[in-house]
Amino acid sequence: MTKVADQAVPFVDLSAQHQSIAAEIRDAVSRVMESGWFILGPEVEAFERDFARVAGTSHAVGVASGTDALTLSLWALGVSPGDEVITTSLTAAFTALAISRAGARPVFADVEREGLTLSAGSAAEKINPRTKAILPVHLYGNVCDLPALLKVADRAGIPVVEDACQAHGATLGGRPAGSWGTTGCFSFYPTKNLGALGDGGLIATNDEALAGRLRRLRNGGQENRYVHQEAGFNSRLDEMQAALLRAKLPHLYAWNERRRALAALYRALLEKAPLVWVDSLPTAEPACHLMVARAPERDRLREALRDSGVQTLIHYPIPVHLQPAYRDLGQPKGSCPEAERAAGEILSLPLYPELHDSQVERVARAISKFYR
Ligand SMILES: Cc1ncc(COP(=O)(O)O)c(C=O)c1O
Repeated sequence: MTKVADQAVPFVDLSAQHQSIAAEIRDAVSRVMESGWFILGPEVEAFERDFARVAGTSHAVGVASGTDALTLSLWALGVSPGDEVITTSLTAAFTALAISRAGARPVFADVEREGLTLSAGSAAEKINPRTKAILPVHLYGNVCDLPALLKVADRAGIPVVEDACQAHGATLGGRPAGSWGTTGCFSFYPTKNLGALGDGGLIATNDEALAGRLRRLRNGGQENRYVHQEAGFNSRLDEMQAALLRAKLPHLYAWNERRRALAALYRALLEKAPLVWVDSLPTAEPACHLMVARAPERDRLREALRDSGVQTLIHYPIPVHLQPAYRDLGQPKGSCPEAERAAGEILSLPLYPELHDSQVERVARAISKFYR
C-alpha cells in the first residue's frame, strides 16, 4: 500500500469527510426517509435554530443556495431595478449574479492590497443616491473590515449584506461573521466549511420582521398555505439537506480548528519561500476556507505542482467586472487595479480538515523545490 505522503494531493476530498461521519450521515438520511416529510419541516427548523448560534443572530432562514440567500436579502431590503449595490470584484461571480438577479446593478469597488477583501475607502468613493446596499465578502474565510464598512454604510443610510458563504464560524473581535450586517448570507455548497450533499443556503439576521418576510419570500410569498401575499421565490432548504447539515454541524468548530492548524503548518514549512500569504485582520479568527498566497511565477509554479501530483486552483482568475456577462457595465480593465493584479498572482493550495500533515509537507517540499 502506498503511504498517504506518496499519493497525489487532491485540492479537496469530500469522501474522506463523509467516511469520518458515515454513521451520522446514514442516520440523518434514514430519519428523513422514514418521516415522509421532505420540505420545510422539523429538520429545517432545528438546523436554523442551531446555525443561528454559529452566526450569532437571533434568526436564521434556510434557503436553496448561497446565491439565493443574497438575492432574497436584497429583495427583502427593497433593492429593485435601477438601484446599485456595491461589492468586491474579487469573489465568486455568484455574489454579483445575486445582485443582478435582484434587478440591481453591481458596482465593483476595489480590494485591500493585503487581505483582498472589499476596501471601505474604495466602496465610499462609489456611493451615490442610487446606492442601496453594500455587499462585502469574507473571502477565503477571512472576515473583512466590517467596522470600517459599516461606518461607510451608516453614513449613507444603507444596509450591509454580508456574503459569509466562505466564512462559517469565523469571527472578528469575537463576533461571528454574518452577525454584523442587516443580514449574513451562507452557502452550504458541498466544498464549503459546512457543506450539504447538494445545494443549500441560509440567511442570518437579528431583525425579526425581516426574518418573517424572508420566510414568506422563500416559500412563494405564502403567508398561509395557498395564500400568496406577494410573488415570492421557490427557494427552500429541503429536509434531507437540513438533516445532513445537522449531522455535520457539531463538527464545524473542530474542522475549522484543524484547517487553522494546517494553515499554520503551511506557513511554518514555507517560511523561506517567496510566497505572500493572504492574511486575515489581526483581531479575526478566520475560517480558513482556502489557503491562498500570492506566488511569484504563479502559472509555472502551478504546472510544477501539477506535475508532482498536487492539485491547485485559482480563486478567482477573472475579476468579476471583467467577466463577459458584465462587459456592458462600463467598468473596464484598470477600474479595480488591486483586484486585477491579485487575480494574476494568487494561488490556492489544498486545505481541508482531513488533509494529513504529511500531505502538507509534500506540497511544501514541491513548492520549495520549485523556488530553489
Ligand atoms: C463568496 C461566495 N458567494 C456566493 C456563493 C454562492 O453560493 P451557492 O453556490 O451556494 O449559490 C459562493 C459559493 O459558490 C461563494 O463562495
